[in-house]
Amino acid sequence: MNKGKRVLLIVSGGIAAYKSLELIRLLKGRGHAVRCILTRAGSRFVTPLSMSSLSEDRVYEDLFSLTDESEMGHIQLSRDADLLLVAPASADILAKMRTGLADDLATTALLATDKPVMVAPAMNVRMWEHPATQENLAVLEQRGVLRVGPDEGDMACGEWGYGRMAEPQAIADAVDRFFQSSRRLAGKRAVVTSGPTVEAIDPVRYIANRSSGRQGHAIAKALADQGAETVLVTGPTALPDPSGVEVIHVGSAVEMLAACEQALPADIVVCAAAVSDWRVSEQPDQKIKKNGTVPSLLLVENPDILATLSKPGNDRAKLVIGFAAETTDVIANATAKRGKKGCDWILANDVSPGTGTFGGDSNTIHLIDAHGVEDWPTMSKEAVGARLAQKIAETLTREQ
Ligand code: CTP
Repeated sequence: MNKGKRVLLIVSGGIAAYKSLELIRLLKGRGHAVRCILTRAGSRFVTPLSMSSLSEDRVYEDLFSLTDESEMGHIQLSRDADLLLVAPASADILAKMRTGLADDLATTALLATDKPVMVAPAMNVRMWEHPATQENLAVLEQRGVLRVGPDEGDMACGEWGYGRMAEPQAIADAVDRFFQSSRRLAGKRAVVTSGPTVEAIDPVRYIANRSSGRQGHAIAKALADQGAETVLVTGPTALPDPSGVEVIHVGSAVEMLAACEQALPADIVVCAAAVSDWRVSEQPDQKIKKNGTVPSLLLVENPDILATLSKPGNDRAKLVIGFAAETTDVIANATAKRGKKGCDWILANDVSPGTGTFGGDSNTIHLIDAHGVEDWPTMSKEAVGARLAQKIAETLTREQ
């Protein structure tokens, strides 16, 4: 049993909403705390009273209720949950989730969350088979949304086919499986680097790069979600600190290396930072003044953090993982880089202009290890983080 997990159950419109009452009972019986959001359409099928009696909590309904917002804002609702479960998930709510519409409490909570989301679709067979629904689901799954069902069978509308919501028992089992599989790194420690480094030229100027830090932050978050005690060492980014992660903010490559070494020993090291290869050899204490001559900068090479943390020794993590940002001969260059740096896995990605990888939302990874290359489909950086954390968990548990 997974005691103490908090499920935010979102009940959208559809006849299957009546099954959500049984789902609440099952989840509670398995030791989970269940808090409910009922959409306006959902409230035509079940009453808030029956839901709150079963969940032993109040039911949240209206985004614009000032009392609700002051008692428990939509951000807080998703922040307090370990999993957001949409059951039933109507075709309408799936479309809204895909496009990022946030016109009521349920969709706002779903857009504002960084927590895992599971959907149990329920709709008429034609709506299910419509390319719009299929496309919406494909996009959501690519973003890491989990799905349970639908089942095939008789429908309330008198038709037969796919679209029936999975049985509450099956949904509760999927929730339990998710919680069990999602803590596979409990007891492990991870250090992740992220973002750019900034190398001072003088007290006001610096050399940096366009890394957004999104990939490294997503990896740290995914490792923490899997239960790893995670330290994120990051250069300056515009991102909020991910929840459940210890974050150390640094500027230069030298500072980043020192912070990583201090965070060791660890079981897992992931170097996702875009570390500046060079720094200015000597920085003046004062701002360099414009005096008619153009200053030249003498650069010296920065320490290679990945190569340093890959060196054999007592402190070496069991799994050291790097990235290879390449613009040509991606696999060949990345394979050579893996050998040169001495890390276990290298995640190669094409960062050529036009791919949108550097600073963008998605990534296409080729994972290279001692056995060869594993090609991953293009996915969001969050989904890459989740898949990597999953693979790390599988590898470390196999080796135990
Ligand atoms: N890296 C690092 N420290 C450095 C340079 C790179 O830890 N000083 C890490 C990156 O975090 C990444 C990997 O090394 O995991 C490869 O980075 P990349 O920029 O692709 O390669 P470089 O080593 O910088 O080589 P080049 O720029 O010549 O391709």
